[in-house]
Amino acid sequence: MRILLTGSKGQLAHCLRDRLPENWELIATDSSSLNITDAQAVKNMVHNFQPDVVVNAAAYTAVDKAEEQIDEAFAVNAGAVHHLASAAHEIHARFIHVSTDYVFDGSNKSAYRTTDAPNPQSVYGKSKLAGELLALSAHPEALIVRTSWLFSEYGNNFVKTMLRLAGERDSLSVVNDQTGNPTYAGDLAAAIIAVIEETEPRRGIYHYCGDKSVSWYEFAQAVFQTASRYIEGFKMPELKSVPGSEYPLPAPRPAYSVMDNHKIERDFGVKASDWQKALNDIMGKL
Ligand SMILES: NC(=O)c1ccc[n+]([C@@H]2O[C@H](COP(=O)([O-])OP(=O)(O)OC[C@H]3O[C@@H](n4cnc5c(N)ncnc54)[C@H](OP(=O)(O)O)[C@@H]3O)[C@@H](O)[C@H]2O)c1
Repeated sequence: MRILLTGSKGQLAHCLRDRLPENWELIATDSSSLNITDAQAVKNMVHNFQPDVVVNAAAYTAVDKAEEQIDEAFAVNAGAVHHLASAAHEIHARFIHVSTDYVFDGSNKSAYRTTDAPNPQSVYGKSKLAGELLALSAHPEALIVRTSWLFSEYGNNFVKTMLRLAGERDSLSVVNDQTGNPTYAGDLAAAIIAVIEETEPRRGIYHYCGDKSVSWYEFAQAVFQTASRYIEGFKMPELKSVPGSEYPLPAPRPAYSVMDNHKIERDFGVKASDWQKALNDIMGKL
């Protein structure tokens, strides 16, 4: 199996590289070796390497900055996805792309299914939805995995931010009126590998996220409780629950972005991310 992986310095791509079977041939590209917004460079890379599968783990992920850097966000999250999907289609390679719960407006009362209508409220969400549509139009067999609230031992994420802040402050306020599913990027990477290994390739949109939904406040509680079990001398800060209105951010967040994993479990036999177990496992490495 030959895999072309983009965004190789990001947290998902790191987790993928750790888990790919050893006999798979990998070209891992980062933004300096392959700027995915450069259509010709993408075409050359795909045609030269002739992968069986292109996995796009690159994205413009600065959700708040995107409100101002609209063109940049769309270039990476939409235009570049079209370049990758078209190039993959030209050589009959599969295309696997990663998207986000931020394509939803958060008004649902039960877990979002892949058939629910997206209605993104932020520039980031809009650019990611545009990327989904472009992927599917440029490559009829494209497969998109939407995920949410990623964390891992790599890169920047909520878990690492909470641990850093706990070391700096005695008291922290965390938003309690936004609910979603934390997802361990290592579990998402394993799910993507299962998708690639499936002999009967499938197309379209899938959801993959954690098995238990929480608010950011509850997630922070879980992080600190886990840290106090696994990190010697960890000092638990006082945690205050606050509404999102007390923390106005440039980009609106969905109040509720819980996603239903049923379809990916049914088609690929992967289980939802057991994020509490993953937290226990990685806590010593953070
Ligand atoms: N993080 C989350 O909570 C979350 C939630 C839902 C969905 N997702 C989606 O999950 C996927 C993986 O996210 P992640 O957290 O692993 O992202 P990440 O850590 O921010 O990594 C993204 C990578 O994309 C690269 N990149 C950006 N612009 C590029 C360009 N023009 N050409 C090539 N590479 C470029 C970045 O490289 P440079 O740093 O060198 O620019 C970075 O290494 C993304 O599709 C994201 O939208 C993430």
